[in-house]
Parts: sequence; C-alpha cells; structure tokens
Amino acid sequence: MTHNLLEGKRGIIFGAINEQSLAWAIAKQAHEEGAKIVLTNTPIALRFGKLQDLAKTLDAEIIPADATNEDDLKNLLVKAQESLGGKIDFILHAVAMSSNIRKKREYNNLNYTFYQQTLETSAISFHKLLQIAFELDAIAEYGSVVALTYIAAQRAYARYNDMSDAKALLESITRNFGMIYGEKKHVRINTISQSPTITTAGSGIDGFSTFFKISDYISPLGNASAQECAEFCVTLFSDYTRKITMQNIYHDGGFSTTGMSNKYIDFLENTNKI
Ligand SMILES: NC(=O)c1ccc[n+]([C@@H]2O[C@H](COP(=O)([O-])OP(=O)(O)OC[C@H]3O[C@@H](n4cnc5c(N)ncnc54)[C@H](O)[C@@H]3O)[C@@H](O)[C@H]2O)c1
Repeated sequence: MTHNLLEGKRGIIFGAINEQSLAWAIAKQAHEEGAKIVLTNTPIALRFGKLQDLAKTLDAEIIPADATNEDDLKNLLVKAQESLGGKIDFILHAVAMSSNIRKKREYNNLNYTFYQQTLETSAISFHKLLQIAFELDAIAEYGSVVALTYIAAQRAYARYNDMSDAKALLESITRNFGMIYGEKKHVRINTISQSPTITTAGSGIDGFSTFFKISDYISPLGNASAQECAEFCVTLFSDYTRKITMQNIYHDGGFSTTGMSNKYIDFLENTNKI
C-alpha cells in the first residue's frame, strides 16, 4: 500500500544493518513512497551487515559514517546532497548501542567508559548530526528529522539499563534543537517511541522475548511491528505533518496509556503464572 507521500523527496537513513532493523523497513517504505535515499552505517556494520543488499534493491548509495564522528557526519551530509541532487528533506536516526547491556553490567554496577559510549552513540550523535546539518544548512525548509526512542526514557524499565538515560537525553535534544531549528529554518524534529520490536539491538536486552510478550498483552492494539513503524514514520517525513515538531509520539498500540489490560489479566489467570 503506497500513496507517493514522499514523491521527489531526498532522505538519509541511519541504522539499517539487516532485515530486522527498524531502519531497514523505514528505508524500504520511504523508497516505495517515492523518495530517493542515501543509506549510512558504520564501516564495521557495512562489513558484517547486509546493507549492500538493501542498497541494491533501493538503488541507493551507501555513505559510511560513524554517527559519533563529526568529520564523518559532515562528509555524509555534503556527499548525500551531491548524490541526491539537493538539500535533504528527511533524516532517520536509528542508532543505538550499549556495551553495559551487551556485557550484562547492571544499572547499579555500570562501567563508566561504556556508559559514556552509550550516551555518545545513542543520543549525543543526534545532537552532532543536527548541529552539523544546521551549520551546513543541509536540510530543506520544512524538512523532517526523526529519531527512534523507547518509553523507558520516561518510566523506569527493568533491564533497559543505561539506554533509558540515553533515550531521555535523545528526547530532550529533540525538544531543544527542535525549537532552534524550527525558529531559524522551519525544520521539524520528532521522536517515535516504538513498541518493543525483535531486532539485533532489541534482542540484546536480557529477557527481551518476555518483555516483548508482556508489552503485546498490555497494548490494546498489540505491539506495533517494524512495518507499521515504517508506515507511521513516512507520514512524519511527509508534507502532511508540517506543523508537528519537538514531539515524542508513541507508536505502541496504546501501551503507554494503559495501566492493566483484560488481555494481560486473562493471560496471567489462564496460565496460573501468578
Ligand atoms: N527494537 C526495539 O525494540 C526498539 C524499540 C524502540 C526504539 N528502538 C530504537 O530503534 C533504533 C534502531 O534499532 P533497531 O532495534 O532497529 O536495532 P538494529 O540493531 O537493527 O539497529 C541499530 C543500529 O545502530 C547502528 N549503530 C550503532 N553504533 C553506531 C554508530 N556509532 N554510528 C552509526 N550507526 C551505529 C548499528 O550498526 C545498527 O544498524 C535504536 O535507536 C533503538 O534504540 C528499538
């Protein structure tokens, strides 16, 4: 189902590494909606991931960039404009990494070098991207920048660890940079707070499959899939949402505003899990 929502638009998609990535689905959907895109990821992800396959299908150029490296980001923004033939209309930031989670360091026993890397990769990279794009005037008027986040930015979530702090910072950067970019260049900046989704990053969280199931039972509409996230995301890239900025928008089947659902009570009663 496509509506040519992004006909003639130029975009940059960070963070696709394999078919499970949220960015993979979003890149495909943006392409189907008529956009021309550039794909980016770290050199190491390019070596071990499958981004080349996606690039071939979408006829998209890959420009490698470590999202924490300012020179890489500058190179990306300059080359992407050359490759796509003009200013950028939309950017997806789908970048996250926590070595504390990978190495099972709990929140009350963090390694501080890892902690700084988590914040740098998963949140400060977003500020760098926006600041460099602003300096280069790389984003078209009413362009749209979207980053992906999780509700653990606002509430305490067991096992989400230092990524909760990174997401809180990411959402704060969205508001503060959104104000400046909106006033000065009419560029909008938002985050999508997505349901748990089975991806490489998601599955790194201890107990993720249980996390995923509980969320699905609590959400009145069930968890939102990667494809549904992609369909929602292209509306935020499109001209139909030109006055939405500085928002964190839940795309979670109603999870964030549900206390306790019938589905979850029935599940616990029927399985005698309580
Ligand atoms: N999967 C979920 O349950 C879920 C839910 C809500 C939000 N999110 C967010 O969605 C985004 C995408 O994650 P995903 O779940 O699709 O997993 P994923 O593992 O497919 O994507 C994470 C990406 O980040 C990239 N990355 C890591 N360090 C980088 C760096 N220094 N520079 C550039 N890229 C780098 C990885 O190469 C990878 O492509 C993340 O921000 C994640 O926190 C995921």
